Amino acid sequence: MNTIGLDIGTSSVKALLVSPNGEVLKVSCPEYPFQTPKPLWAETNPSVWWEATLIAIKELLEGNKPDSIGGIGLTGQMHGLVLLDAKGAVLRPCIMWNDQRSFAECDEMTSIIGKEEILRITGNPVLAGFTAPKILWVKKNEPEVFAKIDKVLLPKDYIRYKLTGELFTDVSDASGMSLLNVGKREWSQEILDALDWKREWLAEVTESTEVSSKLSSSTAEITGLLAGTPVVAGGGDCAAQAVGSSIVEEGKVSVTLGTSGVVFAQSDEYRVEPQGKLHSFCHAVPGKWHMMGVMLSAAGSFQWFKNQFAHKESQIEKEGGSNAYDQLTDQASTIKPGSEGCLFMPYLSGERTPHPDPHARGAFIGLSLRHGIEHMARSVLEGVSFGLNDSLTLMRGLGINPSNVILTGGGTRSNVWKQMLSDIFESECSLVNAKEGAAYGAALLAAVGIKTKDSVEKASSEWIQETERVSPGKDVRIYRQMYTHYQKLYPSLKEHFSSIAEIT
Ligand code: XUL
Repeated sequence: MNTIGLDIGTSSVKALLVSPNGEVLKVSCPEYPFQTPKPLWAETNPSVWWEATLIAIKELLEGNKPDSIGGIGLTGQMHGLVLLDAKGAVLRPCIMWNDQRSFAECDEMTSIIGKEEILRITGNPVLAGFTAPKILWVKKNEPEVFAKIDKVLLPKDYIRYKLTGELFTDVSDASGMSLLNVGKREWSQEILDALDWKREWLAEVTESTEVSSKLSSSTAEITGLLAGTPVVAGGGDCAAQAVGSSIVEEGKVSVTLGTSGVVFAQSDEYRVEPQGKLHSFCHAVPGKWHMMGVMLSAAGSFQWFKNQFAHKESQIEKEGGSNAYDQLTDQASTIKPGSEGCLFMPYLSGERTPHPDPHARGAFIGLSLRHGIEHMARSVLEGVSFGLNDSLTLMRGLGINPSNVILTGGGTRSNVWKQMLSDIFESECSLVNAKEGAAYGAALLAAVGIKTKDSVEKASSEWIQETERVSPGKDVRIYRQMYTHYQKLYPSLKEHFSSIAEIT
């Protein structure tokens, strides 16, 4: 039986129809906007995800029979806060993963529970992107909304609720709420008690491959799918992306170059970085964990650079679209590694790893009259790569030493960027045949859930193969030197960033 993978992303739903041998039969990707009504805010109405999901399912079903679909796997943007009232109505727009408004509530929650306790129980410090401090923000700023809360859901689990009428989540996505005991893979009663919040607010939490619910007849009627089609728990987008790129054994590490950048390693045990600098979450592979570093603006930094500056180059402007990226990276490749001393700090949306600081900001350092757009383009690619290397360096410090790093995400189209990553990581880097990201991982989890496949590990080895390998080259030494400078920049600018952030 085929499976559907549905990824409720930041700006689009991605839906895939995948055959039992891992072949992608159909893709649909309807887009939607999100809003930034104030600095640091990012919100969206969950109804736009549902409308896009209905369009996507309809497109997948064109020319495909509903009885060929054995199950649906869900994934999506993590950490988002969706609040429902007792009648199941959405109480306010979702406060999304990239919303940083709740930094004061992170401190409040940490002082209520205790820094060490939070780290011990949840594997992570409380961070502004995570879900629980957002609930605390609602309590303080929108008490009338807080009083009506009956259920707290994550984005993909809201879509599950619409598909099935049932309330479930999975351990990998739940790990990003600051409410899960990540070591025990269950809700933390200690944290809920300390905050005086109700356990009943939270959906039942299961492993990612469990068939947690079935498609309702009302949804079957509007989608054309069959009532009773199993809906598998699935995972947060980072875990599902990792499953969809073969990170299903300890020792394997991936780096994803999407809008955000994710460095992801499976861990067979529950490990916590002593200062909580890396995220420690449950993996979507049953009974396993993962460590992760998240950079908030990775390929997003390059996109920002292209949008703001590249259009001024008439040739690039004429080409437009994705060609503008290729032309910019071609220009960047004419510049020597190290961008003649120009360094870029990629903290355009604040940062998470290794500097959890909503007020961190982007910067070009070392500019001179010699520097042009092509130097700056190269330094953006280099700065993002150095930032990702920060996470890899922390992982190496914990004894995670990958022999090879799997590169995924849109940024891997660029040869110059792939080579740069291999040089800066000082590691072999590989690409794999699976290019569809988290939605593909969700389809794989569904195939395991409905027992078309025996295990995540087995399905991954059947579905995913290496297609390309890049080795570190002659530029390792200059990058090592530049990285030493890069590492010193944030500590010396940190205080200035927080005072600059007061200017709005
Ligand atoms: C992970 C994270 C992002 C979002 C959006 O911790 O915040 O990757 O899940 O994709």
